[in-house]
Amino acid sequence: MDVVNRQPKLKKMAYGLRPMEAKDIPQVAEIERDAFPTTWPPTAFKRELNNPTIRYLVTWQREDIEGYLPPTPPPPKPSPKEAFISRLFRSVTNVRPSENHKEEDIEYLTGFVGIWFMVDEAHITAIGVREAYRGRGIGELLLIGAIDMARARSSRIVTLEVRVSNNVAQSLYNKYGFSKMGLRKRYYVDNNEDAIVMSTSPILDPPYSEKFQQLVQAHREHWGRTIRVLS
Ligand SMILES: CC(C)(COP(=O)(O)OP(=O)(O)OC[C@H]1O[C@@H](n2cnc3c(N)ncnc32)[C@H](O)[C@@H]1OP(=O)(O)O)[C@@H](O)C(=O)NCCC(=O)NCCS
Repeated sequence: MDVVNRQPKLKKMAYGLRPMEAKDIPQVAEIERDAFPTTWPPTAFKRELNNPTIRYLVTWQREDIEGYLPPTPPPPKPSPKEAFISRLFRSVTNVRPSENHKEEDIEYLTGFVGIWFMVDEAHITAIGVREAYRGRGIGELLLIGAIDMARARSSRIVTLEVRVSNNVAQSLYNKYGFSKMGLRKRYYVDNNEDAIVMSTSPILDPPYSEKFQQLVQAHREHWGRTIRVLS
């Protein structure tokens, strides 16, 4: 009987990872508002997409997986004041909803990460997940994608800033071997909060590489295997 070496079949994760495209901008801007409500001005994603030193990855919901959650319903019609703010917002970000794209072409996005590639350092500029989709391994999938991309580009280390009060994000970063390097006093202009500067050890060195591979494997075993496209 063929029972030798048979591995238990891993389930599939309900979310995939891929590079951001122009058609994603309205949804990514929406996720930014959800995850970083005090960010002002909003990120000019259209311009960022043309910047060769910055890369964005997004997570999308797979509809072919058991346990598929339909996207949260659209918000109620805005009041005239909200509609004015929304028009103002679009004029700043240059975002037009569904510009040149049919609704059915667009997957439902659940999170995004931005990575700025400097000489030998990859800096995570933002990582955010829609509130309703947190705690499902999506933030971790985005961080795995960012570190994988940094390794593929031979970055030496990955760095980021995080609010001193953001224990959830710090827990994620600690899990992936980020350590505190210093403090930027009053870094966040909305409430003058300090930022903790965090960095990995060299990501291509064997100690980090081994730890990273173990974490990726543990994520796969816990949440299921997924589709990861980096470029
Ligand atoms: C931080 C954020 C991206 C995490 O995304 P997420 O999809 O909820 O996280 P995951 O489900 O992948 O969890 C990964 C790890 O994050 C940490 N984490 C997630 N939820 C947590 C919670 N409620 N309490 C403590 N730690 C938590 C844990 O370390 C977790 O690993 P574990 O499952 O082994 O415990 C998400 O909370 C978010 O978008 N927050 C708002 C924006 C933000 O603060 N971004 C970071 C700016 S620096």
